[in-house]
Amino acid sequence: MEKIKLTSSFDKSADLVLFEGDTLDLLSQIPDGFVQLVVTSPPYNINKQYESKLDMDDYLTQQEKVIKECVRVLNDKGSICWQVGNYVDNGEIIPLDILLYPIFFPLNLHLRNRIVWHFGHGLHASKRFSGRYEVILWFTKGDEYTFNLDAVRVPQKYPNKKYFKGPKRGELSGNPLGKNPTDIWEIPNVKSNHVEKTIHPCQFPIELIERLVLSLTNEGDWVLDPFMGVGSTAIAALMHNRRALGAEIMHEYIEIAKQRIEEAERGTLRIRPMERDVYDPNGTTKNVPPKYVQLKSPSKQLDLFLKDNQLNLFKEENKTK
Ligand SMILES: C[S@@+](CC[C@H](N)C(=O)[O-])C[C@H]1O[C@@H](n2cnc3c(N)ncnc32)[C@H](O)[C@@H]1O
Repeated sequence: MEKIKLTSSFDKSADLVLFEGDTLDLLSQIPDGFVQLVVTSPPYNINKQYESKLDMDDYLTQQEKVIKECVRVLNDKGSICWQVGNYVDNGEIIPLDILLYPIFFPLNLHLRNRIVWHFGHGLHASKRFSGRYEVILWFTKGDEYTFNLDAVRVPQKYPNKKYFKGPKRGELSGNPLGKNPTDIWEIPNVKSNHVEKTIHPCQFPIELIERLVLSLTNEGDWVLDPFMGVGSTAIAALMHNRRALGAEIMHEYIEIAKQRIEEAERGTLRIRPMERDVYDPNGTTKNVPPKYVQLKSPSKQLDLFLKDNQLNLFKEENKTK
């Protein structure tokens, strides 16, 4: 089995770079235009154990430095997805995307979607409605960008629906590959009984990142998470033959990220599958069970893939001679 090449500082020949330290120190090692997708959930400045609550202006200045570096390392067809929720101050909410948008806008990025990630679990508020969504701001660097919609289509509600009049009468009216998943994503967040839960207080569900990786990158591309946490972005990227790099300031999270990668290489890491429906107590459909991830080195896989293609090309050419 081809092992994943993991390095702790930037290395073009790696499959995965897990840098322990400040994200700006990793970013400064990455060449211009190197990555295809930046996807992250930055610290929210809400006094989690890994952050000290900053004055809002200082927080935004810090975010601006990281965002500018992310734009520099992004290639022309690439995307940035910044996943954020609310900053809460004395019971008052300040949606972070509203504060961050003015940082992205002057950088000539193009906002393609403001994806609403809706989930069912969280704190129960008593003086306002309980918050049950966060957002992903998806920007592209240019007007020509990678977008593989077919890779992330979801089942049609009425798959057998047909045109009932006109020249296409009797033909299926929906795309047989499924429908566009829209900009509202219903994906459970990682709370206590989620199969992916670690000690991290706010980790990404892997299926959320899989959808972004599959639609916004191609095999072999680099995916960067400047605030890597316990490595959820890396797992989603490697699972689909992409390479990943990211920084994390907390040693214990880096260690958990490494453990998760090792488990995935052994085939023992369990994740919630993308195809599983959200739990419905009155539903009749059977739940898809957790899936075991089996990671292999994407670079090695892709070498093989290229060799296979060359071999096929050679066979084709010789057939016609
Ligand atoms: C919202 S969490 C991201 C969790 C991640 N999405 C996951 O699935 O595990 C933000 C992470 O950024 C890390 N962090 C905060 N400031 C950082 C910095 N300056 N450089 C690198 N990591 C930092 C925190 O320790 C925290 O784990």
